[in-house]
Amino acid sequence: VPPECHFQLGLLLCVLQLSTIAWAETLLIKGGTVVNADHQYVADVLVKDGLIESVAANIKAPKRSRVVDATGKYVMPGGIDPHTHLDAEMGWGSKAEIISTDDFYSGQAAALAGGTTMIIDFALPINGDLAAGFERYKRVSKKSVMDHGFHMAVTTWNEKVSADMGKLSKEGINSFKFFLAYKGSLAVTDDQLIYGFRRSKELGALPIVHCENAAALVEAQQITFDSGFTGPEGHYISRPAVFEDEGTARALRLAQYVNVPVYIVHVMSGGAVAEIAAAKTRGQRVVGEAVASGFGADEAKIWDPDFKVAAQYVMSPPIRNKEHQRQIKAGLAGGVLSIVATDHAPFNSTHKRAGLHDFRKIPNGVNGIEERLHVAWDELVVPGLITPSAFVGLVSTSVAKTYNAYPRKGLIAPGSDADIIVFDPEVRHTISASTHHSRMDTNIYEGREVKGKVVVTISRGKVVWENDKLDIQEGAGRFVKLPVGGPLFEGLDALDAASVASNYPYGTPGQPVVRNLGTSA
Ligand code: URP
Ligand code: ZN
Ligand code: ZN
Ligand code: ZN
Repeated sequence: VPPECHFQLGLLLCVLQLSTIAWAETLLIKGGTVVNADHQYVADVLVKDGLIESVAANIKAPKRSRVVDATGKYVMPGGIDPHTHLDAEMGWGSKAEIISTDDFYSGQAAALAGGTTMIIDFALPINGDLAAGFERYKRVSKKSVMDHGFHMAVTTWNEKVSADMGKLSKEGINSFKFFLAYKGSLAVTDDQLIYGFRRSKELGALPIVHCENAAALVEAQQITFDSGFTGPEGHYISRPAVFEDEGTARALRLAQYVNVPVYIVHVMSGGAVAEIAAAKTRGQRVVGEAVASGFGADEAKIWDPDFKVAAQYVMSPPIRNKEHQRQIKAGLAGGVLSIVATDHAPFNSTHKRAGLHDFRKIPNGVNGIEERLHVAWDELVVPGLITPSAFVGLVSTSVAKTYNAYPRKGLIAPGSDADIIVFDPEVRHTISASTHHSRMDTNIYEGREVKGKVVVTISRGKVVWENDKLDIQEGAGRFVKLPVGGPLFEGLDALDAASVASNYPYGTPGQPVVRNLGTSA
């Protein structure tokens, strides 16, 4: 409490001061190199009322503004992670009712400390009920500290599901996720996937698919378990790349059949990268997502003799060997994959012990919400595979474009939200559970030194991360409504017409052939 409040005359001044701090911090980010997905240039960035006001050379600091020195550093749009599972009531793989370790407060605190200023989280239905699931997520996300949107998972098919997809698409959800894996709980069948694709297309919502062959992996799990591999490595052994390659090919072919754009989550195999490249080559609209663990985590650790270490690495599809990781990085560098997410599905070491004697019961998921930018920079920019601009594209701009949040998000330009990071490419730091901001008691990148560090994070115009300290407020986060339609859906009608033309070379849909059946019938 500032002392002037204790004098009556000072009261007005104090109130004014407090409201200035809360609402209208004017920030000037000086001397940095602004990096957008298209190009980079040296400029100052002026932030007012949560928005970017101007980007220009030598902006004079307005009165009472706070200056952030970015000399020698990159000034980039805040990261957007389109694949997180906060407060998720589901121990994937485990039959136990387990809730993921980070909620919307701790998960987003970790995100901000790592330079991510928006997430799109996967809301789950409750017993197949989408609307009920969304109500739960609206409630648990009230703790949010930053901007966030939602996808919704579709885990069964009936008229209510179809109707709820329509309802949710008007409430700011513009993507629906379908699991080919997790037989008996989340998985959909091929016919359900087709219905879901058709409904998504009708709504202008993007279908998202987790691609693995559910039936094959259940059989492989049994064989693996029966042969004595009951530990975490059994998870790896029983999910070979061919299951992911097949699932990816099938999802892509069915999307081609329905003529709907499609988003493939967590690509973990070189074969899946190749399937996506092939689909793009034949003209399909596909967005391929890599996750940081898929090219930045040590796949050998799942064989560690210490259960606590090994179980951390259980996620689906599994983290594969260096050759797969190389192909994923090449896919990112070459444009086959356009997004780096995390699939942050945190289950601490106590949760993971649900599968101590049976790898099938280990909840699936790894951490990454805080480490994503650092791992991606270290794996992709430092070795020269991509430029800083391409990096911004992968961790922010492409996500904003895919989910219709651009140019409000994913761009440093006047009028855009002031979600900004200052990145120092020269600072090295070591990732550890002892210093991270997630509630997890482990970290799959434990002990890894990375080059480059997010030194300042600005969320909606407020400095929330500086000098290794968070300054956040529970409940300050906004639900960002994501509208349907957008560039991915433009011109689909013309493609549909072309496909009808090729399917009915000698006839017209709706006008069956009137055929002379002859006399013998
Ligand atoms: O293992 C994973 N990926 N857990 C989270 C759920 C999912 O499949 O995305
Ligand atoms: Zn006071
Ligand atoms: Zn998945
Ligand atoms: Zn996921």
